[in-house]
Amino acid sequence: MIPLTLAQIAQITGGRLHGEPAAVVTGEVVIDSRRAGPGGLFAAVAGERADGHDFADAAAAAGATAVLATRPVGVPSVLVTDVPAALAALARFVIDSLPAATIAGLTGSSGKTSTKDLAAQLIERLGPTIAPAGSFNNEFGLPLTVLRADASTRYLVLELSARGPGHIAYLCGIAPPCYGAVLNVGHAHAGEFGGLDQVARAKGELVEALPADGTAILNADDPRVLAMAARTAAKVVTFGVASPDACVRAAGVRLDDLGRPSFTLLTPEGPAAVTLRLHGAHNVPNALAAAALARELGLGLAGIADGLSAAVARSRWRMEVHHRRDGVTVINDAYNANPESVQAALAALHHLAQGGRGFAILGHMAELGDTSQTSHEDIGELAARADLAALIAVGEEAAPMLAGARRVPSWTGEALAVPDGAAALDAVANQLKPGDVVLVKASRAAHLEGVAADLIEGAAQ
Ligand SMILES: Nc1ncnc2c1ncn2[C@@H]1O[C@H](COP(=O)(O)OP(=O)(O)O)[C@@H](O)[C@H]1O
Ligand SMILES: [Mg+2]
Repeated sequence: MIPLTLAQIAQITGGRLHGEPAAVVTGEVVIDSRRAGPGGLFAAVAGERADGHDFADAAAAAGATAVLATRPVGVPSVLVTDVPAALAALARFVIDSLPAATIAGLTGSSGKTSTKDLAAQLIERLGPTIAPAGSFNNEFGLPLTVLRADASTRYLVLELSARGPGHIAYLCGIAPPCYGAVLNVGHAHAGEFGGLDQVARAKGELVEALPADGTAILNADDPRVLAMAARTAAKVVTFGVASPDACVRAAGVRLDDLGRPSFTLLTPEGPAAVTLRLHGAHNVPNALAAAALARELGLGLAGIADGLSAAVARSRWRMEVHHRRDGVTVINDAYNANPESVQAALAALHHLAQGGRGFAILGHMAELGDTSQTSHEDIGELAARADLAALIAVGEEAAPMLAGARRVPSWTGEALAVPDGAAALDAVANQLKPGDVVLVKASRAAHLEGVAADLIEGAAQ
């Protein structure tokens, strides 16, 4: 964080100061009052469940220097008309104050956080790096991340999300990237966008924002991503598992018993062996994207290969593999779900369950629009083809998975629709045996991570 006086904050945001102009914000800028700390700035946001303004006192009591708010809060504050816009202005000020920091942005429908975490662990080898915790990728999370940067920062690795057109362009306006990687165009939020071509339009705003001396890093395996090459003034570098012409590639991909990929990383500098600690073959393209980005930033082949092999999962609930003492394995992939990521998770489940039985507890995939029903059916069919012992569809919206599973007459597993996570647990917990593998996955709104936690703890009893 660059220290800013309240007078500066008021000036940058066009806000009205209530407090001591010379008081300085030296600590983190947060929107969660529980995370407010000494010297920090608490940005009060009205959310679905709570209004941050009600926690201004608590933030001040925790030591926050001031509150960024839209109405008087009774403690030192800067009053603005629009808190996200004020955060954006502050973040832009920080960026403009740090010309030595290189900004890399990353977007896609699936794998942004996993790839961002991999990329950050590579780029940290080059110098002090700021990257978001978890999925801080929207009009709140991105400026909050940027605001953590200071004069020592050399790299910012930012995750950019979009739920509609213009969102990524807006985020690029806050922190203009010089490097931009696009992972894939899939069905996440496709309902809100209106289809995959509209998703591609929006994700491509990242490469449109790059300067002529910047670099676009594109997935050659995804035609909609590769086509973005025509939309950028920047140099284009490609990665791909299946594309022989891609600049950064993988050959000889193998998965160990736990689904962790090993492969030969192929780059213009030569080959190098990589063994990921992350689970699932879908992390191979993520690793290639991270490698291509780090390579452009100047990390050598050995650093990339070592870094990828040493990198750990930094963000929770994405393909976390837990081994219970009784020999049951639980995959907690409950962070979110869309057709591509459920497919990836089912592939990993199928792989891990070799020699045992696979159970999938799947909640709904949100925001798919018109294709919701058929997408859930298709996932049911995939689950049946993965030869699971049981598919448990949680909640009404997930129930069409059962019809999809019935399309596979040869499948002998059990298909069940249950109303909620507790019922899913009841259906599964007592029949698990050593060697069984249970996948838990759903959109964020379903909150199935609690089911995963209960299953994991089940072993402790
Ligand atoms: N390249 C990929 N293709 C398909 N699914 C993926 C990919 N990378 C990650 N996933 C899965 O997608 C879900 C979200 O991963 P995450 O890295 O948080 O992506 P995002 O930040 O884009 O939501 C997880 O279930 C993860 O296992
Ligand atoms: Mg994310």
